[in-house]
Order: sequence, then C-alpha cells, then structure tokens
Amino acid sequence: MYFGGDRFNAASAAPIRPYPFDPIRPENFQQKLFIPGSSGPFGVMDVAGPMQIRATAASFPILNGQSSPFLMYQTEQAGKAFQNPIFRIESGTRFKATLNNELPEPTIIHWHGLHTPAAMDGQPVNTIGAGARFDYDFTVSNRGGTYWYHTHAHELTAKQAYNGLASFFLVDDEDQRRLNKALDLRLGETDVPLVIQDKRFDGAGRLTYQPNMQDTMMGFLGDVILANLTPNAYLNVTPRLYRFRLLNGSNARIYRLAFVKGGTLLNFAVIGTDGGLLDQPQTTTEAFLAPGERLDVVFDVGQAQPGEDVFLRSLAFDTMENEGSAGNMGGMMGGMGGMGGMSSSRLPLGAEFNVLKLSVTQGERSTPQLPAKLSEIRTIPTEGVPERKIELSMGHMRFLINGRSFRMHEIAFEVKRGAVEIWRISNASVGMPHPMHIHGFSFQVVERLNSPRQISANARFGRGRTVSDLGWKDTVLVWPGETVKIAIDFSHDFTGSQSYLLHCHNLEHEDAGMMVNFRVTA
Ligand code: C2O
Ligand code: CU
Repeated sequence: MYFGGDRFNAASAAPIRPYPFDPIRPENFQQKLFIPGSSGPFGVMDVAGPMQIRATAASFPILNGQSSPFLMYQTEQAGKAFQNPIFRIESGTRFKATLNNELPEPTIIHWHGLHTPAAMDGQPVNTIGAGARFDYDFTVSNRGGTYWYHTHAHELTAKQAYNGLASFFLVDDEDQRRLNKALDLRLGETDVPLVIQDKRFDGAGRLTYQPNMQDTMMGFLGDVILANLTPNAYLNVTPRLYRFRLLNGSNARIYRLAFVKGGTLLNFAVIGTDGGLLDQPQTTTEAFLAPGERLDVVFDVGQAQPGEDVFLRSLAFDTMENEGSAGNMGGMMGGMGGMGGMSSSRLPLGAEFNVLKLSVTQGERSTPQLPAKLSEIRTIPTEGVPERKIELSMGHMRFLINGRSFRMHEIAFEVKRGAVEIWRISNASVGMPHPMHIHGFSFQVVERLNSPRQISANARFGRGRTVSDLGWKDTVLVWPGETVKIAIDFSHDFTGSQSYLLHCHNLEHEDAGMMVNFRVTA
C-alpha cells in the first residue's frame, strides 16, 4: 500500500530500478546491523578525564567487508582504543580534550546541541590547519539526551562529515537512568544508538563524494542507505521494548520514518527529541527526521510474531523542491534549467525505501509500561516576547539567510543576554526544505504556519506542531512556504559576549554559506 503509491507527486512515485544494495527490495536486507561495543569503532566511552583526539585518515569496511577510505577520530582511554567513540558523560561533568589534526587539511570539532561558551563550540572560525591542535575544556551543562559531534571545518564540513568525522555524544542524567531502569534497557543491546546516512560507493566498494553542480546546490544524496554504517541492515529482536536513538547523520537527506509490517504502520512512542526526553511519551506511526535532528523512540516488537519482519522505513513524501512559478525559477536559476529531481543520485529525495529490518525471533514477552512522566520540561514563557524575522531565500545560485551569505567575521544580528526571543523562520515558497540549526542554545517550537499537507496532517500537538517538534530542539525543518516560530532563552553564565551560528544543516547548503553569526551580548 505504501510502496509506489500515488499519494504524492509523480516524481517521487517514479519506480526506482534495482541496483546492488538498493534499499527498496526487502530481500536485500541480509547484513547484520553494526552495534557499538565498549571499544573500537564507535565504541561507547564513559568519559573519564582529559583525552587526546586525533582526526585521522583511516579506513573502514562498509560494503561487502571491502575496506574503504574513511576519516575517523581516534582516541584511547584506559588502554582501550576507540575510533569515532560514542562519548557518554554525566550531565554537569567537565569535558577536556585536545584535538590533534592529523589530516592533510584543516578541521575542527563542533559539539552539536551542547551549550558551551562560543570559544569551545568548534566553529568555522576555530578551524585549525593540518598538524595543529585545539584544546577543549567545558562543562557539559545540557540535560540528559542524545547529542552528537562532527567536523565544522570552514567550507569542508560536508565532505569531512560525509567521509566519517561524526559520532554520538550521549549525556546521562537521573531521568535517563530512571527510564532505562523502568524499561530494563541496556545501551548497546536494547537501547541502540542508530545513525542513518546515505552514501555512494564506486565499483570497488569505496566511499565516494563527488558532488556535481546540482548536488552542491540541493545537497548531496547517496543511493546506499546505512544504519550504523551497515548497508541493508537487519537486527534480530525479541518481543520486548527497544529504544532506538535515531540520528540523521546524512548530509542532505530527510527521512519520514515509520515501523512497517506488511503494509501496516505500527505504533511507536517518541520519548525524546534533540535535547533529551519529552515530558511524556507520544505514540505515533510516523515522524520526519531532518539532517542534524534526533528522535529517541521506543518500539514494542511484540506487535509482530516470531518469524515476522518489521521494517524501519522512510515513507514517500513530497519534497516540494522547486515549486511555484516556473517563470520565477527560470529567472533565479539562470541557465541551470531548474533544480528539482536533477540530483545524480539513483535514490531521489522523497523516495520510499527501507532503513533497517527487525527480524523477530522467539523470546520472553516483556512489556513494561512506559512511565507516564519522563522528565520536566519548562515551557519558555512567550507572552509579549519580541519576534525576530529569519527569512530563507535563494539568490545567485545559493540559499540565503536574511539575504546574507556567510562571512566569517560578520555578525548578522545581536541579541541581549538573558532575553527571550521568538524567531519567526520563514522559508520562501520556491526552493526546498531547510533544517535550520542554532548553536549554543536549545529552543522550543512554538508554532508552524502554512505547513504543507504532509505536516499539517500530523500536527496533533497544537499550533501546527508534529511529534518531531516537541521538547527541547536544536534543529528544525522548515518547508517551502512555511513559517516556524521558535522560542529561545538567551540566558547564559559565560563571561563576556558570545557569538554563535545559525545555519542550514543541509551540509552542502552550510558550506555554500547558508549560515550567519549572531552575538549574545555580555
Ligand atoms: Cu551540527 Cu553547526 O552543526
Ligand atoms: Cu538548506
């Protein structure tokens, strides 16, 4: 019912011809999902004291066990080696690390979602050259949650992140522990960090990144879907509750996620978003996940029988690229003749495909109740709060924020320390969806206006909001023609004024300058 449906426009319904590792055919899903262990690649590291992190050119077997060039953060702790470690740290703890750039090009690490002083935030302005070092020292003040870290090298973010420089940064606290205890969840077994990415490979199974003009303009899309770097992945599960900490670590692809058995969408509970647990779990059958965003979900495998398969699937959606007047587009795009549907990927944006197969095996049926209350979320008071306009548009072949393109030392606007503001982010109706990310401060989605049908149809939470908008956020998807209002509290305890970034997390857009600095006054 959901495959090849005609619910959306013709472009997304066009059949995709099978190719090796295509994520469409269920029978392709034969590779065991990579699950992080306690060392090695993506090993979970309980941060204990200062460390040296080396950004290195390494290799990693992705397709057919074929080793592929890959960039990795390497570090050691207590005699154990880690590559792209999943850091786990208690809220309130000090984090100290030195980044050693062993790449032949500049780099820097940004801690996505963390509230740090600007100097520790890892911004393009902090990019260090080959052979240089950068010292990080900050207190992790965020609440428990699924955060992440990745390169933010000036104009090299897309390429370096795609080639490997990214991993999770898990913050623990009482709420997180209480939940995992109540549901008998164990990290790396039934509590699974799951990064979803799309990449391309050459005939020898080596990772490739060669964006053409369209890819650079619209964002680079892969045609192999990776779950924890596993193509066509499956996971054996028993009829109990599983927690998946979903991270969209893709450069540009948006996912519309659902758990599907046969033609039926199954229920799952969203328990958290970017900045930790929601106040209460929310049951749903689908949720959008844009680049940079996280969704913490609990899925009850008991909805299927042993022997059955459930697919974590990305459903078809209308990408809304390049809508509106063709005349407008022609004018804006000059000789390019429009942008929609022109990606060189075999798997267009908005296509339907599988991400992960859950193979249900025999096991004890265990379904503890989800706690009715997961955490406390203080709603930012927005009565009489000033609104700031953030307008996304396109000009001169690139996407702009308030008509600007990124300049390293230009501050686009200033906000007062301790002020609460509403940012009214409006996307032009001709263009494409943009996942907008703010450094330094988590925010709350207040309202969605003029949303497309695929959003408004699932806006069950008042003021046009969907399940992906709840809780504390650091990244929010804004569709063409849509306006999203967010509330931000600019209180901070850092000394002096602090400048941070607002940018699109479509990494090709970011590198092309869809980014501005803003300053929070002293
Ligand atoms: Cu995850 Cu400035 O980015
Ligand atoms: Cu964008």
